[in-house]
Amino acid sequence: MPGCWSSHRPFPLPAVRRAVLAAALAALAMPGLAAAPADPLLPAGRWQGDTSGAARTPPMGWNSWNAFRTEVDEDKVMGAAQMLVDSGLARLGYNHVNVDDGWWLKRRQSDGRMQIRTSIFPSAATGGANETSFKPFTDKLHGLGLKAGIYTDIGRNACSQAYDLHSPNLPQGTTAEREVGLEGHVEQDIQLYFKEWGFDYIKIDACGLADFVPGSSLVKEQSYRPQAPLIERNAINRTDIKAVRSRYEAVSAALKAARPEHDYILSICAWGMANVRTWGKDVGNLWRTSSDITPSWTSMLHNFDSAVKRPLYAGPGHWNDPDILYLGHEAFDADHLVEARSHFSLWAMINAPLLISYDLRNGPASLLEVLGNADLVRLNQDPAGHQGVVSYDSDDVQIIVKTLGHGSSKAVALFNRGATPMDITLLAKHLKLSDQAPIVLKDLWSRQSVTFTGEQAFTLAPHETRVFEASGKRQVANGVYLSEIPGSLNVAVDGTRRAELDPTIHRMIDPWSNTRSGGARPQYAGWGGAQPDATPFGQTLQVAGQAFDAGIGVLSNSRIQVRNDAGQAWLMASVGVDDSSANIDQPVRFYVYGDGKLLAQSPAMTLGKPAVPLKANIAGRTIIELVVRGARSGSAPPVVASWGEARLLSAAASAP
Ligand code: GLA
Repeated sequence: MPGCWSSHRPFPLPAVRRAVLAAALAALAMPGLAAAPADPLLPAGRWQGDTSGAARTPPMGWNSWNAFRTEVDEDKVMGAAQMLVDSGLARLGYNHVNVDDGWWLKRRQSDGRMQIRTSIFPSAATGGANETSFKPFTDKLHGLGLKAGIYTDIGRNACSQAYDLHSPNLPQGTTAEREVGLEGHVEQDIQLYFKEWGFDYIKIDACGLADFVPGSSLVKEQSYRPQAPLIERNAINRTDIKAVRSRYEAVSAALKAARPEHDYILSICAWGMANVRTWGKDVGNLWRTSSDITPSWTSMLHNFDSAVKRPLYAGPGHWNDPDILYLGHEAFDADHLVEARSHFSLWAMINAPLLISYDLRNGPASLLEVLGNADLVRLNQDPAGHQGVVSYDSDDVQIIVKTLGHGSSKAVALFNRGATPMDITLLAKHLKLSDQAPIVLKDLWSRQSVTFTGEQAFTLAPHETRVFEASGKRQVANGVYLSEIPGSLNVAVDGTRRAELDPTIHRMIDPWSNTRSGGARPQYAGWGGAQPDATPFGQTLQVAGQAFDAGIGVLSNSRIQVRNDAGQAWLMASVGVDDSSANIDQPVRFYVYGDGKLLAQSPAMTLGKPAVPLKANIAGRTIIELVVRGARSGSAPPVVASWGEARLLSAAASAP
């Protein structure tokens, strides 16, 4: 029987001790300044998962793009705004009104100031033809109690300038006048949009870094300034991930300067490319995880899939963004209410932004009812910010469970992805609730309740999603599994060595030009990232034949932070090298830190060695950090390491 490894053990590796000392001395030498630890695996001792900005819960509201594309105008936007207010949706939280592509006329060359197309935004004509301002427009929105959002591109040119060439609202003028994106104008534009014009939210696209390729027919025919792409649409290995990230970091810095109260939202629109699914959380408040959604069932599934397996990368302040809702169109219109409810339920369960995008002035009441389901909105906006976790996953059926608050209740979605009716049996263990005590399920669509013990069968119509709030006796009587509280975890370092494409998300040829498409395939990196209740590669957690239903799966050389929000007293886990590890030779060690202090460690663990229990006294500690260290040398892949049944327990929990 393996021993229990705890803080009484001597300090692990001399190298680690030296590095800790060095970091501590550096901090002492610079009073008031937290020294950045040289070794990213050293505990930070402070929460690194806060993204500045005003998105403690997922943004909600309306966006013009899916409704009007570039044919947006002031009447349409103000009509939507008024409907949000009149319908009561604004009171539910739908309070952002975001203008997407199409608003601009040109960049004035005398001083670089952006000009608004006053033919579609007449209130912007504040000082003759050459002097425009969105201030009257944002004042009107603010006067309605709403927030205002604007759109730009991180490069020189925007997406419509590559993909909507028929548009009547493309920027006009010389090559330089048509450079409406942020490149070379970050501070100027952000000051203008946020200080002078009063916007609260910005969506920043990335076509300017991808599509204006030297020598391309687009650049030649439209006389754009060519730019060697930083995002290679077809190749993650030729995408300059660092450069893309630093472009968005510069915007984040400019936003902080323009709005010292940090009352802004930064939406990164790099479509899941440039490894943004990994770093988006550290830079922006939401980041697109996939290509543009289209109003079809399969596209909705695709975008959902791009975000649903990334719950550890989202939390209060930063959210996976599978794109704007497509309710009100084609597969999700009022004739497809089952699909509309499913789309909405799924977005609610995974803490996606809830941005409506159809012509609200002419929308059917039935869709307003879907969007106005206050219980679903409450799940999405739960302040604890725990994204739903997939607890059962077949081709046809998924069960997604979302913890509310610190775990007192749960929401569960039963989702029939397929086109035929499906029988689904929900088990207590899917909910991490006891199978010995009654579980009450309240249906958040029909409002009916059912009570069961152990398991309950359901039949779902094609494409149907049932969503319940569930309460029962918790499996972890005096605490919570870490995988139940992803919003309290921050993947500070996930151990991936290079950006690898996620093979579980279909890489379709882009549909925009039909079967004639040349075939740029989306580059969704992030494969190997940390996972709740699964290994980083989607396997069941298992150490030396012992499977764990719960736990956190990581790679070697990773550091996961846990906020001890509920003031728990113990962290416990069974740790070891996962049986699925492709690296079968190298040992790893597991460490638990509390507020920067080493509390527990494992012996060297190798493949096939039974999991050892780790127990750390975390009473009074606010930031717990879970580190797995292994060799970094050579070409061997990282070791797959499992924090089996990792859980936080209260002082009342009996000692193991
Ligand atoms: C890209 C984005 C969309 C939309 C359009 C505007 O395709 O992903 O959400 O903003 O650009 O041109």
